[in-house]
Amino acid sequence: MNITIKLTNSPKVKPDTSVLGFGKYFTDHMFIMDYTEGEGWKNARIVPFENISLHPASTVLHYGSEIFEGLKAYRRTDGKVQLFRPIENIRRMNRSAERMCLPQIPEDDALEALTKFVETEKDWTPSAPGTSLYLRPFMYGNDESLGVHSVKNATYVIIASPVGSYYKEGINPVSIMIESEDVRAVRGGTGEAKCGGNYAASNRAGKRAEDKGYSQVLWLDGVERKYIEEVGAMNVMFKIDGVIVTPALLGSILPGITRKSCIEVLKNKGFKVEERKLSIEELEQALKAGNLEEAWGCGTAAVVSPIGELNYKGEKFIINDGKIGDVTQYLYDTLTGIQWGKIEDKYGWTYPID
Ligand code: PLP
Ligand code: COI
Repeated sequence: MNITIKLTNSPKVKPDTSVLGFGKYFTDHMFIMDYTEGEGWKNARIVPFENISLHPASTVLHYGSEIFEGLKAYRRTDGKVQLFRPIENIRRMNRSAERMCLPQIPEDDALEALTKFVETEKDWTPSAPGTSLYLRPFMYGNDESLGVHSVKNATYVIIASPVGSYYKEGINPVSIMIESEDVRAVRGGTGEAKCGGNYAASNRAGKRAEDKGYSQVLWLDGVERKYIEEVGAMNVMFKIDGVIVTPALLGSILPGITRKSCIEVLKNKGFKVEERKLSIEELEQALKAGNLEEAWGCGTAAVVSPIGELNYKGEKFIINDGKIGDVTQYLYDTLTGIQWGKIEDKYGWTYPID
């Protein structure tokens, strides 16, 4: 793929790592390319970071034809920069594109675009502990017409943001409200796809939880409100009586790359990992019997996030005395160790940029 590069004449001052938070600052450049049916992808370019101009009838503004990805570039202790399983994000993006009738990007081209972009922006990868350069590829339908159809024109963009921790709590346990009204997704819907609409529809429950002092919600399935699905915008795992249980991917759950990595790391450590349906009754019984030993969310942004308190219909349950558990800590240490190049990557998950 031919990628033209136009560098900025006015580089920004990089923010101090103490103020980063999540997704508030953006680097100097962006990758962008255009798609037209019959012509394919064209005009691949890295240009100075700028606003995007859209026709007021653009499909994305009316019908939500949008998908995105999220992955990070990590500054290793030896100063080099690396990605974590980028091909998994590229494959998931193409699956999301298929679901939303957006165009696919050949894997080699998507990887080349990502690599060239990270090479251009690599000085923005912070080195303070726990910080990284969050990469946000996204694609939107861009027909200039109000008819409801699969799109003929699309745009693909990658932007980058130096980040610290996602939750203000960092690796400290968060409190979670079990949501029994709104649902995030249903089988046959778009839960498996990383499309913007899923997140817009989740905000009402998220806000209700935040207003009551909780960090996020635990989602139940959309048909019976009975089976556990995800926590906020993360996959969820539990340690019940020594066994790791995580909801099976049955069509409404986003197949997380951190989830997949946690399962491999845990199996490799000798844990029994069950991917299956887990009902709220079973969880409640385990909580009451004292068998729910640990609970955590997992995703790129937060890596793992221990759950210290669950609220179900007004009843509060404390997990592991509100402290991070051994398995959660082990996963955090192992995944971040591989990502930041502090421990050997025996899985072949890291992808060096320079
Ligand atoms: N579930 C949802 C709804 C998400 O948005 C994410 C974040 O990407 C995840 C789970 C975790 O996925 P990953 O581990 O690939 O970041
Ligand atoms: C994650 O990386 O775990 C996320 O859910 C990203 C979020 C900002 C959408």
